[in-house]
Amino acid sequence: MNFPDTRMRRLRKSPEIRDIFRETKLNKEDLIYPIFIKEGLENGAKEAIPSMPGEYRYSIDDAVSYGKELEKKGLKSIIIFGMPLEDTKDEMGSPAFAKDGIVQEAIKRFKQETNLVVISDVCLCQYTSHGHCGLLKENTGEFEVLNDETLEYLAKVALTHAEAGADIVAPSDMMDGRVIAIRETLDKNGYENTLIMSYSAKYASSFYTPFRDAVCSAPTKGDRKSYQMDPTNAREAIREAELDMIEGADVLMVKPALAYLDIIKSLKDEFDLPIAAYNVSGEYSMIKAGIEVGYLTEDVIIESLISIKRAGADLILTHFAKDILDKI
Ligand code: PBG
Ligand code: ZN
Repeated sequence: MNFPDTRMRRLRKSPEIRDIFRETKLNKEDLIYPIFIKEGLENGAKEAIPSMPGEYRYSIDDAVSYGKELEKKGLKSIIIFGMPLEDTKDEMGSPAFAKDGIVQEAIKRFKQETNLVVISDVCLCQYTSHGHCGLLKENTGEFEVLNDETLEYLAKVALTHAEAGADIVAPSDMMDGRVIAIRETLDKNGYENTLIMSYSAKYASSFYTPFRDAVCSAPTKGDRKSYQMDPTNAREAIREAELDMIEGADVLMVKPALAYLDIIKSLKDEFDLPIAAYNVSGEYSMIKAGIEVGYLTEDVIIESLISIKRAGADLILTHFAKDILDKI
């Protein structure tokens, strides 16, 4: 049937009609809020992050009170990023696997004082003196990010997070074999119920720039292109995700989200695992900036998050979670 028998506008004729025919809905349970926690910060002295309007670095106490506030508004889960004291960083990223490290202590407090699902980012870059996500081999000006040697360190980080009570560990380093290395270490130590959310298709993206300012994790030399994916590659994302699934990942993640909606969709079509998408710092900051100067209105926040959901994401890691809990 064609026009005039078929009229698509019937489905849009009133707010109520539009409400009941809506195909995609954004729920509070879909959102994971990233929170930055900095060692050595005084309570009450949260630090504004200039490149991420509305985001701050918190002390553990302040982060927990903020988390409680958001939990009251319906937030269900957080992902914790830590910043150790600058002078404790070393070649191996030791503060990342200290039992009383900033993330480990924060996890304990969140688990004691809230019912939030606590996810921890597992990586070395915020903790290494060179800022890379793995160990470095240096040779007269040349350097290489070592793969296999890094795995045991990542597994150690994940184990200390699980011991502290993390519900989910999320490796973001992009070393080959990290999921199985982490799974084996967790299982051997009695943490077979700790989930792994793997940053499976993590691209070497310029949209991470504000995050690197936020947590001071930019590599001091070189870039991450030898381990993060080339933004031009889509089929390779399927291979990455398949390996993570075989190695034991419980959730597959795509990162960034908005410039990679096709990747979210193809992982959703290809795999039966839950799919998460990371609406990264650059995606947050460009929309915030657009709203601040008046080029955009706040409506673009939900519209862009809905696009991520519509592409197939079951979960969305987003700094906008705090902004929209009252609106969905
Ligand atoms: C580091 C890490 C990055 C992000 C999360 N974990 C940045 C990077 O790979 O340099 C990016 C998050 C964001 O931009 O919001 N392993
Ligand atoms: Zn890293």
